[in-house]
Amino acid sequence: MRILFLNGPNLNLLGQREPEVYGHTTLADIETKVRQRAKQLGADIDFRQSNLEGELVGWIQQAKGQFEAIVLNAAAYTHTSVALRDAIAAVGVPTIEIHLSNVHAREEFRHKSLIAPVCVGQIAGFGWRSYILGLEASVNVNDRS
Ligand code: DQA
Repeated sequence: MRILFLNGPNLNLLGQREPEVYGHTTLADIETKVRQRAKQLGADIDFRQSNLEGELVGWIQQAKGQFEAIVLNAAAYTHTSVALRDAIAAVGVPTIEIHLSNVHAREEFRHKSLIAPVCVGQIAGFGWRSYILGLEASVNVNDRS
């Protein structure tokens, strides 16, 4: 199973960025942890980050036929991007929305996710472990038992 991890704006700053909210783990550390768990699960992963909305849209479009699932931390674009939402809906690759922080316990503007209605589900609030939970959800994404 091939899983595409996509990370949106400012997630390249994890480790130094508001550590009281996002923790001290860097994005590279998270990628290492995800790769370790993926190996145990027999999944192949690709792990990318961009600060550019259009680049994320392009990667979602290219995922069709290449990946069985997408695990997406769209960061601030979660709350603003019709383009990301439309790309997920257009491409139809099952997508799992993740967040390090519990967005529902934060500022009101973070309560609304424009991508949630076109995602399989949402995982939020478990720090870097949200990525591991996202991975575990993605490998079972077609199991409705
Ligand atoms: C985030 C939550 C978003 O509201 C925020 O803009 C981020 C990170 C998270 O992982 O908790 O950049 O997606």
